[in-house]
Amino acid sequence: MTPEELEDEDARPAPPVYPAITGAERAHGRRLAAIHDMYRAELDAVARLLDAIRAGSGNAADLAPAVAGTQLARNMALFGTACGRDCALLQNHHDIEEQWMFPSLAERGGAVLAPVIARLKAEHAVIHGLIGALHEAARDLAASPGAEGFARCAADFAVLDRAIRSHFGYEERALEEPLGALRVPI
Ligand SMILES: [Fe+2]
Ligand SMILES: [Fe+2]
Repeated sequence: MTPEELEDEDARPAPPVYPAITGAERAHGRRLAAIHDMYRAELDAVARLLDAIRAGSGNAADLAPAVAGTQLARNMALFGTACGRDCALLQNHHDIEEQWMFPSLAERGGAVLAPVIARLKAEHAVIHGLIGALHEAARDLAASPGAEGFARCAADFAVLDRAIRSHFGYEERALEEPLGALRVPI
């Protein structure tokens, strides 16, 4: 699956319906979206830092390669560190889902929920690859700030940002009712 295919709404299985779901159960299911909100706020903060660097440097592609010791270099290093931190946070979130949430959903949700879980896992695999790429770019940028490393890190961040927001949206829509109705701990 490519990052483009990950965003294909038509390929995403619809969850089963749970007509007897209560308000309290639905509220429980919505907690996943609230958790995702924290990660979206983290991504917003990194995007703002990215914008600030671009505003301060004009066209990043035009930057002189030697920027060591400047405020720009410090901001680039900061961007690399922030990207690396986001990578670790997002990977941790997915690890928790894979280790605890998905197995409980699979056990309680039966065959009707299985395609949704399989799709979410396949999306995790794509995102895992994107996290790895950004993590490497971020480490390199933090270690040696420069225009080329910044451009690579910014491009990798943009791809991951897009994919993870799309994944979060599908996951929280598809799992709101199952998490609630099946009383799966979040
Ligand atoms: Fe997920
Ligand atoms: Fe998630």
